[in-house]
Amino acid sequence: MEFAVATAHEVGKLAAAVRPASVPPERHDIYALIHKALRAALSDAMLAVGRLDTSATEEVNDAVGRIRDLLDLCQDHLETENAFIHPAMEARRPGTTRRVADEHVEHAASIARLRSRTGTLARAPATARDDVAAGLYRELSLFVGENLVHMNEEETIHNRVLWDAYSDDELAALEGAIIAHHPPAAMQRAMRWMLPAMTPAQRVAMLTRMRISAPAPAYAAVLALARAHVDEGGWRKLERALAA
Ligand SMILES: [Fe+2]
Repeated sequence: MEFAVATAHEVGKLAAAVRPASVPPERHDIYALIHKALRAALSDAMLAVGRLDTSATEEVNDAVGRIRDLLDLCQDHLETENAFIHPAMEARRPGTTRRVADEHVEHAASIARLRSRTGTLARAPATARDDVAAGLYRELSLFVGENLVHMNEEETIHNRVLWDAYSDDELAALEGAIIAHHPPAAMQRAMRWMLPAMTPAQRVAMLTRMRISAPAPAYAAVLALARAHVDEGGWRKLERALAA
């Protein structure tokens, strides 16, 4: 079983790479929350295709919508990293983004292939949907796997570079520039996944900050997203903390 041995070895290497990055929890982690959102959205879409009843057109349309939303989120995310984070890294540590940038090229190609397959599922007659959905499920699962490994690289290797080259204030300013660049609809799409995926403490910190700094309608919209998508226990904790 050569494959199983190689896989275990790879996982071991990844696990070893995770440890040093968890050392400075006080540093500003520009990837943490958006990657939690991506992990949640990737998992949700993959599970939706896996359990899909292809005889039910409404459910097929729902799954198609979820995958298209996911692919928009992934596309926007990699373009944002290319436009903001990589230039910042290259400016002070040239050559440090090459590997991840190459992976972004592969991800863009995967996203295009998945869009095409999703379109095929949307148009397929009911009798042909099972085969198309099975192929889409496998390809989406591979994409999920690639992204999980990729995000770990960014959270370990890239964060080490960012923390070495930039202060936390500079990283917060970079994050502010990324947020300012996104129109409200794109922010809402990211927040829809980010809010239920983060810890109660992260949620309280984000909403408390927004209550002070964001326009009232934007804050109200985020609160409504939290009400709609955060689990019951998490919502109660958030309500209690914001009322205190
Ligand atoms: Fe990335």
